[in-house]
Amino acid sequence: MSAYLGIDIGTSGTKTLAIGENGKILASATETYPCYVPKPLWSEQDPEDWWQATIRSVRRVVKQAKLKPVEVKAIGLSGQMHGSVFLDKKNRVIRRAILWNDQRTSAECQEMEQRVGGRANLIRMVANPAMTGFTAPKILWLRNHEPKHFEKLAKVLLPKDEIRRRLTGEFATEVSDASGMLLLDVANRCWSKELLSALELDESLLATCYESEQVTGKLTRQAAELLGLSTDCVVVGGAGDCAAGAVGNGIVQRGVLSTSIGTSGVMFVHSDEVKIDPEGRVHTFCHAVHGKWHMMGVNLSAGGSLQWFRNELCKADVAQAKKAKKEVYEVLIKEAESVRPGSDGLFFLPYLSGERTPHADPDARGCFVGITLAHTRGHLIRAILEGVTYAMRDSLEIIEGLGVPVRQIRASGGGSRSPLWRQIQADVFGRKVVTINSEEGPAFGVALLAAVGAGAFKDIAEACAATIRVVKETNVNRANKAYYDRAFPEYQQLYRSLKDDFKRIAALEK
Ligand code: XUL
Repeated sequence: MSAYLGIDIGTSGTKTLAIGENGKILASATETYPCYVPKPLWSEQDPEDWWQATIRSVRRVVKQAKLKPVEVKAIGLSGQMHGSVFLDKKNRVIRRAILWNDQRTSAECQEMEQRVGGRANLIRMVANPAMTGFTAPKILWLRNHEPKHFEKLAKVLLPKDEIRRRLTGEFATEVSDASGMLLLDVANRCWSKELLSALELDESLLATCYESEQVTGKLTRQAAELLGLSTDCVVVGGAGDCAAGAVGNGIVQRGVLSTSIGTSGVMFVHSDEVKIDPEGRVHTFCHAVHGKWHMMGVNLSAGGSLQWFRNELCKADVAQAKKAKKEVYEVLIKEAESVRPGSDGLFFLPYLSGERTPHADPDARGCFVGITLAHTRGHLIRAILEGVTYAMRDSLEIIEGLGVPVRQIRASGGGSRSPLWRQIQADVFGRKVVTINSEEGPAFGVALLAAVGAGAFKDIAEACAATIRVVKETNVNRANKAYYDRAFPEYQQLYRSLKDDFKRIAALEK
């Protein structure tokens, strides 16, 4: 028998999953690690934590699925995008990795645009404008703020590619994750020499770039021993977690869009051509489907908003739910069920870590607007679910406005497990939302890519067709849709009204 592993280096933990030849899931395991916030809006992790979590989760999966080392033919890697692992010439990690949701690089984003002669030029080179969370501005930040570290810099790797280096000894990446470094010529699927030269960065800092299903190396003897696998096991390119999650949802053809509510919220659509938003509000990246692209909008605090609410305001409920062996989110969402659509006029802006789509504003802040004495905790919770979904509708409207067809919406991620949140999605988006048979997300997507790379399927479309099907539909409630259609412009107006206040408030803290 042959098995394939998907390993996803997430923000809260690493998940490893094994599938068999037919794509059936054999086992999965998650190992968690901390995220460091040394200053407000900074976000860092220790690559060694990812590595230890990788070893532990792979060993658990191999044991659970009772796999013999030779049976594991290939590994696909996925991970949080845009993070920067800085290595010296002896491959030692220079400082903690700076993550996708870190907002320290506003000045470096401006520097990038200045160096290339403006935002439009940058979009021409790499299909996207400068965003604080992306990798390139982080490299400039290191040069500007930690010159001693920059002097030692020999390589910059994305999180999953640092794990690949430890697995195979190779410096390799693949087009989907590389797109989020803001150094890839997305239209031509290669590093942008023009941008590297404008930034005075050497191409040798970067890894070799592959397509997602291509083999990038084999396990070293040491890694094979640590994981309990064979040195014949190959590692394929894999994908950034957004593209990997989309593959795991079967978003590998025109007209299908996925919504994913994890820490961040992602609206992801496949595109056969490179389509670029001239305003740079949604991202255009290479897809994990060979030779194709995708567009996506990212909201930085989607499930993360509810997680913050749970952690900070529901400590007693967390303890109680734990005792009762219940999932605390279920308890909280139950409270929101009895609240009417629209939360009786209460709005929530989910900009807890600043926002990416559509505002690209690190200074934006989370807010509840419109609280009255009549509002209960259930209202606050429902307002969070609605606010996050309005934020995702912003992306949907931009994507459709660029002429990318959306015929089906597939909901995924932790947030979409809740029937209430799925109903809110159907009603806010104004169309039916479906869910599929697998809820495994990015690790499943890259396990499928590993199976393709090892020759078990002709291509990723065949792998998805063989394993993924729609199982549930949530239909639009017409009355709720009508309400949300009226409320959405009010939600949009709130950011415009508060934008300058956010800037002044942020300046107070600087
Ligand atoms: C995508 C993004 C996030 C991270 C989260 O552009 O920043 O979705 O990849 O893991």
